[in-house]
Amino acid sequence: MLSKNIETALNKQVRIEAESSQIYLSMASWAETHGLEGISKFMYAQSDEERMHMLKIVKYINERGGHAQVSELKAPKTTYDTFQEMFQELYNHEVFVSESINELVHLSFLEKDYATHNFLQWYVAEQVEEESQAKTILDKINLIGDDKGGLYLFDRDIQQINNNGTII
Ligand code: FEO
Repeated sequence: MLSKNIETALNKQVRIEAESSQIYLSMASWAETHGLEGISKFMYAQSDEERMHMLKIVKYINERGGHAQVSELKAPKTTYDTFQEMFQELYNHEVFVSESINELVHLSFLEKDYATHNFLQWYVAEQVEEESQAKTILDKINLIGDDKGGLYLFDRDIQQINNNGTII
C-alpha cells in the first residue's frame, strides 16, 4: 500500500510525463509544418514514449492500492524561432524530468518504500539515456547552426535513431 505522500508524488510524476508527451507532440507538429520529416518522426516517437512512461506509473499507483489521477495539463508552446531553440528546450526538459525522478527516489528512500524505490530504478536508467540522447542531438544542432544543408542532412540522420534506437 502506498503512503499518501508517495501517492501524491507519483501522481505529480504522472502529470509531468503527460505534459512531456504533449510538449514533444507539439514539437513534432511544428517540425512537420516546417518540412523536416525526420525530426518530426523522432518527436512523434518521443511523445509516444512519454505516454508509455506515464502509463507505467498510472498502473503502478493503482496496483499498489492508490488511485492514479488524470489531471489538467499545462499547454505546451506551439512555435519555436529555431530548431536550436526547440532542441535546447527538449534537453532542458529532460534535465528537469531527471531532477523530478531523483526527488521521487529520495522520497521513497526516506519513507522506506523499497518497492517504489525499485520501481523507479527503471526511470533512473531511462533518464540517463534520454538526457544523453538529447545532449548529443543538441550538440549536433548547435554545430549545424544556420546551415540549411546541414539541417537537411541532420533531418535524414535523425531517422537512424528511430530505426535502430542508437544515438547518432
Ligand atoms: Fe519520461 Fe523523457 O522523460
